[in-house]
Amino acid sequence: MNIDRIILAPMEGVLDYHVRQILTEINALDYCVTEFVRITHHKLSNRTFYRLCPELHHGGKTASGTPVRVQILGQSPEWMAENAVKAIELGSYGVDINFGCPAKTVVGSHGGAYLLQYPDQIFNIVKQVRQAMGTSEILSVKIRLGWADKSYCYEIADAIALAGANELVIHGRTKADGYKADKIDWQTIGNIKQRVNIPIIANGEIFSIQHAQDCVRQSQTSDIMLGRGILTIPNLANMLRFNEAPLSWKNVLNILMRYATTTIEDVKPLYHSARIKQWLAYFRQYYAPASDLLSQIRTLKTQKEISEHLKRIIEQS
Ligand SMILES: Cc1cc2nc3c(=O)[nH]c(=O)nc-3n(C[C@H](O)[C@H](O)[C@H](O)COP(=O)(O)O)c2cc1C
Repeated sequence: MNIDRIILAPMEGVLDYHVRQILTEINALDYCVTEFVRITHHKLSNRTFYRLCPELHHGGKTASGTPVRVQILGQSPEWMAENAVKAIELGSYGVDINFGCPAKTVVGSHGGAYLLQYPDQIFNIVKQVRQAMGTSEILSVKIRLGWADKSYCYEIADAIALAGANELVIHGRTKADGYKADKIDWQTIGNIKQRVNIPIIANGEIFSIQHAQDCVRQSQTSDIMLGRGILTIPNLANMLRFNEAPLSWKNVLNILMRYATTTIEDVKPLYHSARIKQWLAYFRQYYAPASDLLSQIRTLKTQKEISEHLKRIIEQS
């Protein structure tokens, strides 16, 4: 399969610093994108950027050396530009702009996917961010194929390229499509690729080698981004790149144990236990024993209780 770059998707509330550390250690990934940070009408503090992307303390790379790009989301060209420059100053590997988020609170305040209805506003934001950043840093943009339908998708892609973005990540569904598997449309990504002369990264619904092959063929791009698929099978990128077998359940248990015993400072008490359960719920889509394990730990509240339970399971297996 002709795959060039494999990129780790941004996933707010899921793919945080700790998960990035683990997945970039297991896989040969080209870069990661952080969860989005919302930009309103001020410059965010250093603390906010470091919380979102602790890798900025380490040259903008994970411990295994994979670069990390800060993702920003907002609708004010000026403040998006100011904050993009700040992210770069702090060491982000370029900046990514989110025009795909369908969350109610985000679209309610006219950010994320809402802007897919207004290609001219997308153009203004990308242009102003590009002007402020200068030309030496990478500016990528992540979109869905549209809001209610795909009628603006070419206009949007043209606007983004014309405004000076270096690359365009396309999640092959509209906002209205949500996450419906049967709505995935890699073909339209391919049609966009034919007319836009910046690199296109195809994203959406890649959970297996077969999906990746179909995606690469239909989207006619060799650059792909993995989100839920790599959370489900944690070495998915290496399966695609090196034909590795999927990790065994035993290995996956050890990964979960590592995540469960990670110390996360400065968060609410139940935050980490919720995240552990959340990752286990992704594993369930490929690993049959994950369902039982999730039922067993569902009522456990603390990180300590969960990690002790996992330890017992690992010792027995
Ligand atoms: C829980 C969740 C959180 C997400 N957060 C973000 C985000 O912060 N920024 C973004 O651009 N996309 C976000 N996405 C979209 C993903 O990056 C990706 O485009 C989408 O999941 C489709 O890819 P996949 O099928 O490989 O998961 C999120 C998706 C999910 C399911």
